[in-house]
Amino acid sequence: MKQFIVREIPKTNLEISNFEMQEVDIPKPSSDEILVKNILLSIDAANRTWMQGRTYRDQVFAGDVMPSYSIAEVVESNHPDFKVGQIVTSESYWEEFSLVKAKDVNKCPQNVPLSYLLSIFGIAGLTAYHGLFDVGRMEASDTVVISAAAGSVGVYAGQLAKAMGCKVIGIAGNDEKCKEVVDNLGFDGCINYKTGNLLKYLKEHCPEGISLYFDNVGGHILEAVLVRMQNRGRIVCCGAISQYESSSPIGPRNVPGFIITKRLKMEGFIVMDFQDKHLEAINHMKALFDNGKIKVIEDIAEGLESAPEALVNLLNGKNFGKSMIRVFPDP
Ligand SMILES: NC(=O)c1ccc[n+]([C@@H]2O[C@H](COP(=O)([O-])OP(=O)(O)OC[C@H]3O[C@@H](n4cnc5c(N)ncnc54)[C@H](OP(=O)(O)O)[C@@H]3O)[C@@H](O)[C@H]2O)c1
Repeated sequence: MKQFIVREIPKTNLEISNFEMQEVDIPKPSSDEILVKNILLSIDAANRTWMQGRTYRDQVFAGDVMPSYSIAEVVESNHPDFKVGQIVTSESYWEEFSLVKAKDVNKCPQNVPLSYLLSIFGIAGLTAYHGLFDVGRMEASDTVVISAAAGSVGVYAGQLAKAMGCKVIGIAGNDEKCKEVVDNLGFDGCINYKTGNLLKYLKEHCPEGISLYFDNVGGHILEAVLVRMQNRGRIVCCGAISQYESSSPIGPRNVPGFIITKRLKMEGFIVMDFQDKHLEAINHMKALFDNGKIKVIEDIAEGLESAPEALVNLLNGKNFGKSMIRVFPDP
């Protein structure tokens, strides 16, 4: 089978050449192990942070097979809880088949297209939902600003906030993305942070100030949003992608200044923190989806070979919606 190893950990921006494809034998599961066939691989900004050091999971080093998260089919099992043919979510790797332990695999429903288990009902939708509701305590009266608005988490965060009745302003890296989130997803406005003065645009779009900021990017954009926060506003720290390729990350210069004077709350989270509330989140989003209030936005590249390019593209803002790789067709 084919798999990708990390050839070299880049010091600055990730490149396709930092990965190398190799062919190896498909491994045999020993007792308690499961062999899965990876159907869809999730491509996430977090993949890059794993190369920078230990995070909520082990660091990835040169020579490692690139880890990932996948929707997969059990093809051989020595564990009583998992049967051949079962569809699972799995800690896996950039490879066609992965050998996994039962603790790293979860059964999942098969009554929706499998890609939905990574997008709306998977990591993207769940991160948006828990970030807004459980961390941000979103209310209908909120003015919500969302960065990386056209990315995998951003498109669901914006639609969930709109469905709640909030005013929603996105921030994204080009005019096409801004137009799409407004025209197709119902955002009230969207700012291209690469053109003009972000502070000025934030003031124009949110003259009343911002009560809830869903931050996917950190850095200068967070610094600008802090200036426009209302007193007692909330900032959900979901990610800091503007810093993931930097060896000397920069923070906003107005922290803790504005946190104090504006009495702000700033809270980080990891989506797995809310595992016991995933079902509630999925039911909520399923109802909105069934009523046409949330659209599924996915960016699927074909073939394992496209994994390095898809991750580089995501880090450079070339994806729209949830990025993933189709390794095999849905069974
Ligand atoms: N806390 C959690 O549990 C959790 C779970 C999942 C994801 N996340 C975080 O959520 C964020 C989004 O991740 P994702 O995997 O869903 O990726 P994504 O949003 O699909 O893609 C990343 C987007 O970030 C934007 N971006 C890249 N570099 C940027 C920069 N220097 N400044 C501003 N924007 C930049 C790009 O869009 P533009 O064209 O707009 O620049 C790009 O499309 C990441 O920070 C990630 O770490 C957190």
